[in-house]
Amino acid sequence: MIDFDIAIASDHGGYDLKNEIIKYLASINIRAIDFGTYDKNSCDYPVYAKKVAEAIVNGEYARGILICGTGIGMQIAANRFKGIRAVCPQNCYSARMSRAHNDSNVLTLGQRVLGVDNAIEILNVWLNTEFEGGRHKKRIEMLDE
Ligand code: RB5
Repeated sequence: MIDFDIAIASDHGGYDLKNEIIKYLASINIRAIDFGTYDKNSCDYPVYAKKVAEAIVNGEYARGILICGTGIGMQIAANRFKGIRAVCPQNCYSARMSRAHNDSNVLTLGQRVLGVDNAIEILNVWLNTEFEGGRHKKRIEMLDE
């Protein structure tokens, strides 16, 4: 069971998928805190990646979701912040491994790449997979040295 709130944001390119994801999370009793954007006007993804990345680095939220057209800009932007391990998995295997071995704390999704059902499947795997720790822990720590 997931007992934490999730920080979420998108740019205009991920706006519709973000709303679908928020609705889905609510249906499984997970609260998504929406950091914007709040309409479809063109905007800059680094602004929204920063909001979620900072909320996680500051310890306000353990995990976040960022959505843009491809998921790539959000991934690059979020990974500029020390302590963020953002991943943009294209399939469930990558989503699972990003949690099990890399303890990913931000999931990025591409609205123009994934259909809603596929995005939700990837999201579910990412939400429900625990970090294995062990030999992977020291490697995670090395990332921020
Ligand atoms: C916006 O058109 C698009 O470039 C953006 O959503 C994202 O895909 C960038 O990586």
